[in-house]
Amino acid sequence: MGQAHRIAIIGRGTVGGGVVDILAREGAVIARRCGVDLELAAVVTRTPSRQRSQALPPGCRLSADFGLVLDDPSIQTVLLLVGGTTDAREICLRCLTAGKHVVTANKAILAEFWDELFACAERHGVCLGFESSVAGGVPVIGALRDGLVANRIDAVQGILNGTCNYILTMMEEAGLSYDEALAQAQALGYAEADPAFDVNGSDTAHKIAILARLAFQTRINFRQVDIRGIEALGPGDIASARRLGCRIKLLGIAQRFPDGISLAAAPTLVPLGHPLASVRLNYNAVNIEADAAGPNTLIGQGAGARPTASAVLSDVVAIACGERALSGPRAHGAPLFDLPVIF
Ligand code: HSE
Repeated sequence: MGQAHRIAIIGRGTVGGGVVDILAREGAVIARRCGVDLELAAVVTRTPSRQRSQALPPGCRLSADFGLVLDDPSIQTVLLLVGGTTDAREICLRCLTAGKHVVTANKAILAEFWDELFACAERHGVCLGFESSVAGGVPVIGALRDGLVANRIDAVQGILNGTCNYILTMMEEAGLSYDEALAQAQALGYAEADPAFDVNGSDTAHKIAILARLAFQTRINFRQVDIRGIEALGPGDIASARRLGCRIKLLGIAQRFPDGISLAAAPTLVPLGHPLASVRLNYNAVNIEADAAGPNTLIGQGAGARPTASAVLSDVVAIACGERALSGPRAHGAPLFDLPVIF
């Protein structure tokens, strides 16, 4: 067995449950593969008495009290897996200030409080990992931060919300109504606690703001993303798109121009022959235009317990192994440039 790295989960919802599940099934193999034994020391949830399908490992504490994580110096990394911004921001700052690494899937706090959170992490010499915040199991943050580090990125565009992509797919392929398709996406664990954030485009906007920050290394004001959702789309729109040889996809788009950048989250007509047109169900796809590497498209499941938990654990392993990729300027898109948002 490898060296122990003690972690705590805050939030035992869909993603927290996915992490517990993967650790139970694969923890021993991960330990041998990576040389670190991820020890689940505590789970904090508002409803500790609720029955769950997965058992916690022996010795893991279960509580509604987040203070137990702060007070336990043996806990090295906190997996912040709750939604919303107010409590989540506060918990994140308190964990970082207590000298704990944080790994989070909460794209809203990242998009809205990026500079504050990363400044706090840097001050306290800890990492803030966020691979799971964009495109679920698709390793797009690592691709931008590491794989494409030698490139100037000219554009990032993609299907970034699994719920909306599921709804649009089921409306077109199975003839479901918008409400029926949304109910299925919720039942499958894809949607946010308040699915309005999925369908009104906010979730995609948060994600494209994060990708733009890494891609362009400029400060991104989330309020400058032009946001439109899919709530008003009906079968007539889908049929009209088809007649034009297209499919409607909710895209996040960040593009570089000579005098600045544009940021948008909006339903878009995608020609049927384009790679993004054939991305179905809860799958996400991100197309990155890189100057040296050329275009790259990453496709995979963008929502759901196990895909998102897979991304969470990739950050945890990197931190536990002491990899430098999650600290320093490139880990948090240090603002090297001042690019205005032009439209
Ligand atoms: N609600 C989000 C989605 C979850 O549907 O993509 C993953 O961020």
